[in-house]
Amino acid sequence: MDNDKAVELRDIKVFPMDAEDLDAIMEIERVSFPNPWSRELFIRELSNAVSYQFIDKALVDGRETLVGYAILWIVADEGHILNIAIEPTLRRRGLARKFLDFILVFMEEKGVREVRLEVRRSNVGAIKLYESYGFIEEYVRKKYYGDEDAILMVLDLTKEGSLIRY
Ligand SMILES: CC(C)(COP(=O)(O)OP(=O)(O)OC[C@H]1O[C@@H](n2cnc3c(N)ncnc32)[C@H](O)[C@@H]1OP(=O)(O)O)[C@@H](O)C(=O)NCCC(=O)NCCS
Repeated sequence: MDNDKAVELRDIKVFPMDAEDLDAIMEIERVSFPNPWSRELFIRELSNAVSYQFIDKALVDGRETLVGYAILWIVADEGHILNIAIEPTLRRRGLARKFLDFILVFMEEKGVREVRLEVRRSNVGAIKLYESYGFIEEYVRKKYYGDEDAILMVLDLTKEGSLIRY
């Protein structure tokens, strides 16, 4: 995909992740994180009882394309977003927002009361995105990523209006 080209982006839909999606996912994963997940890690998630895996597809220049993915865990009433990424050339078009809208409603419908995630301290874009949903910093895990601290963020889904961005 060409970043300079005006990309037609339509019909964004969420689907369950399938092993067949992993080639496209790994391409995004490798360029999205300093310590990308291995293919094996994704495969393990596909058969993990507490894990839910989703992909985001959209019509890009007329072709249905995998544009993002997310891995969530739900344990009792606690949700965890373990991984979320959007295809690099399609960022800042609101795709992560649409995906998070879906994820948070999905979690709420599953009875989740609190959602947690870890984010690199330097990942200001992601932190800004999460804060816009009302996620707040809970604590810092020092050198969680080896070279960098993780900010553990939490969202109280039981709070009135928690599914409305502000
Ligand atoms: C973080 C990520 C998922 C955001 O995806 P996206 O589709 O570009 O996000 P959106 O377009 O929905 O952005 C929504 C809002 O989040 C904030 N935001 C997102 N990326 C940002 C950035 N790079 N810098 C500043 N703010 C950013 C903005 O407030 C943005 O709204 P705006 O564009 O109207 O200003 C994407 O950058 C990504 O895949 N990054 C690599 C993987 C990653 O870091 N995942 C998160 C791990 S915790």
